[in-house]
Amino acid sequence: MSDTILTLTIDGQPVSGLATETILQIARENKIDIPTLCYLEGLSAVGSCRLCMVEIEGSPKLHPACVTLIQEGMVVTTQTERLQGYRRNIVQLLFAERNHVCSVCVSNGHCELQELAHKLGVDHIAFPGCYPELEVDASHRRFVLDHNRCVLCTRCVRVCAEIEGAHTWDVKNRGMRSRIVADLDTPWGDSATCTGCGKCVHVCPTGALSEKGKSVAEMLKKRPSLPYLVANRTEERQ
Ligand code: FES
Repeated sequence: MSDTILTLTIDGQPVSGLATETILQIARENKIDIPTLCYLEGLSAVGSCRLCMVEIEGSPKLHPACVTLIQEGMVVTTQTERLQGYRRNIVQLLFAERNHVCSVCVSNGHCELQELAHKLGVDHIAFPGCYPELEVDASHRRFVLDHNRCVLCTRCVRVCAEIEGAHTWDVKNRGMRSRIVADLDTPWGDSATCTGCGKCVHVCPTGALSEKGKSVAEMLKKRPSLPYLVANRTEERQ
């Protein structure tokens, strides 16, 4: 079953892939761009940000491309005005929820949220900003956690649990009150489990996790190294 080849259409282009592959994987293999935020190659897919929603012919609802497996004969559309409208709303809501002041952010110019806004043509926020009072945890020797910039994508949680094996990070509370926490909500610098590897910092899409000593726009992330690391670890286990 896992090596069954299926054929489908994405944006009018005939493509094929394995039955175990998702719409997003096949789209990327064929250079078809679908916006993503919570997804990162090398980590488990959780389908939480909903930016990768696509339309599938015959289905009245939208489907997250990162967690939807391909099917024989599927007809997928990734770039309708309806989808772009939803994506613009999601990005605006993320900006409105916390304090994303790009002009003073360490990730300015290297931020995935900012990039998405540019790509989708989001040049203003149609929703009232929440302006929550959020902490900056600078207790770690090498790194900083700025809750103001966090979009709760949980990439840090997944990379720490799935790749580093430390599971230092988790999410506390629900909805608007959700926060990334180290261990059982201790200052990061006091964490008994953090190995200081920095993987969480480098998978973070925004300036929420950064290295100490970086100034505005100086924080460059090394996200492409993750698939390489995962591939090497898989080989080692075999
Ligand atoms: Fe698919 Fe976030 S990338 S839901």
